[in-house]
Amino acid sequence: MLHYHEVIKGTERETFEGKERICNVIKTEVDKRKTMAIISHPDAGKTTLTEKLLLFGGAIHEAGMVKGKKNSKFATSDWMEIEKQRGISVTSSVMEFDYDGFRINILDTPGHEDFSEDTYRTLTAADSAVMLIDGAKGVEAQTKKLFEVCSQRGIPIFTFVNKMDRETRDPFELMEELEEVLGMRSYPMNWPIGSGIDFQGIYDRKNKYVELFDSDDAKKVRVHKVEDVEDALLTDLLGEEAHQKLIEDIQLLDIAGDAYDDEKIQKGDLTPSFFGSALSNFGVQTFLEHFLNIAPAPVERVSSIGPINPADQKFSGYIFKIQANMNPAHRDRIAFLRICSGKFERGMSVKHPRLKKSVKLSQPQQFLAQERNIVQDAYAGDIIGLFDPGIFQIGDTLCEGQTFTYDEMPNFAPEHFARVSIKNALKKKQFLKGLQQLTEEGTVQFFEGTTGIEEMMIGVVGELQFEVFEYRMKHEYNVDMSLQRLPYQIARWVDGDFKPSAFQVSNAKPAKDKEGRPVVLFENEFNLRWASERFPDLAFYSQSHFHYGKK
Ligand code: G4P
Repeated sequence: MLHYHEVIKGTERETFEGKERICNVIKTEVDKRKTMAIISHPDAGKTTLTEKLLLFGGAIHEAGMVKGKKNSKFATSDWMEIEKQRGISVTSSVMEFDYDGFRINILDTPGHEDFSEDTYRTLTAADSAVMLIDGAKGVEAQTKKLFEVCSQRGIPIFTFVNKMDRETRDPFELMEELEEVLGMRSYPMNWPIGSGIDFQGIYDRKNKYVELFDSDDAKKVRVHKVEDVEDALLTDLLGEEAHQKLIEDIQLLDIAGDAYDDEKIQKGDLTPSFFGSALSNFGVQTFLEHFLNIAPAPVERVSSIGPINPADQKFSGYIFKIQANMNPAHRDRIAFLRICSGKFERGMSVKHPRLKKSVKLSQPQQFLAQERNIVQDAYAGDIIGLFDPGIFQIGDTLCEGQTFTYDEMPNFAPEHFARVSIKNALKKKQFLKGLQQLTEEGTVQFFEGTTGIEEMMIGVVGELQFEVFEYRMKHEYNVDMSLQRLPYQIARWVDGDFKPSAFQVSNAKPAKDKEGRPVVLFENEFNLRWASERFPDLAFYSQSHFHYGKK
């Protein structure tokens, strides 16, 4: 079967006939899509920025509609009680809106300290990332962690320096910090004029205009086009001193700073940076418009049969997240699928390669702010929610035509472990059901001892997941758990002729994962190194891919 990329290279055009038209329609749709994740440290203003973006897109009509820390109105499930109690957002959600002919999908990632694999997996579904930084605080711990994941994928990363209406750090110092802490050079697309009570606005380097900030009425933004930064109009608008400082800053950036380089930006080697204030809605629209110009539409993704073009006529995608009980009234389970190619149509039948069967996708949902809508059709870049009767797992590929799988979904090695047991032995059936569902969702990873005596353990990437696990077991499956924390910090999947009984290493515990694959839990790096030296024929891997056999 011909693929779209073969057609646009001009080969066998005549044999393709009517199908080319379909592909062109798909390509037009794909090119409109921008799928991004916003990454930040808690309190940098992610909820506020998301809300302002949605307001521009008309997806919401009033501030306060996006699930916020102090706004429980839109918490859609009972287990989100944890979020409310702890004042954090535990799950990542998806929002979409239209602006200026584009379809923008925002993947929300929790920024709290104890985040989970869910966050990492969600980032695999994004084609670009927006890194939000509090101008007074600079690059914080959580931003750094999330940045590293995005950076490894080589996706473009945009920087928005927020809270410019308050006293902030010197913008040159912030640029330096991006380079020192994250190892990434930046290209300021605009530049702030003053900060805090002296904040006057921003100067757009590319389009050469100033946007003036009015602290008394943040809605009143005045924009003036100028010849260049030395334009005398700027002295009238900003005052002599501020204008002089702006000229010096821009000259310094032009001489000593990096040049604008689209290739570097697309590879994630240079970050276009923006200054503004999400709360005052200042600089947000400018940011959005530049973002839409620069950010990539969905690109090819790697699969077991080579790269798949997003405009390929055949539908494909993969499940990156599963969430149960989003709506307590229905006890539903939703699998989030990132479309990677082709056109999705409601009711279509697709292949499910892991189960080697075909499935009908009949009640797909798209996420408009917090409301869920039934989706009729969708394209590469879009995220859809599929009702899951228990047939999906994280990492599953769904496709049409030739069978293949995407191999982007690693199983992250947990760093915290606990032995689990139930307080009431009569609840074992519910416990096993809950355990199975929560491991399939990726809330926790399951390990079993190899000693013959039943020993069940769970591992998590972020400690908060223990609490989420206990809470959900109790509220959704009616099972009270006992969790006994274990001293291990490292899990390694083992390849080679592994015999647990012969594996005598102190502070290490042989186990099996839920697929029965051998794993060893170690207390520290020293134990791991020692085991590697003692058993040179065994190889220890920090990640087990869902499709076993790949390392
Ligand atoms: P998060 O999702 O990243 O955790 O941050 P969120 O948007 O909830 O913002 C954290 C705090 O920072 C909020 O204040 C918010 O109003 C404030 N904030 C966001 N953007 C700006 C900005 O551009 N300038 C200023 N000055 N503040 C900003 P809060 O007091 O914690 O909450 P609230 O009572 O305002 O809701």
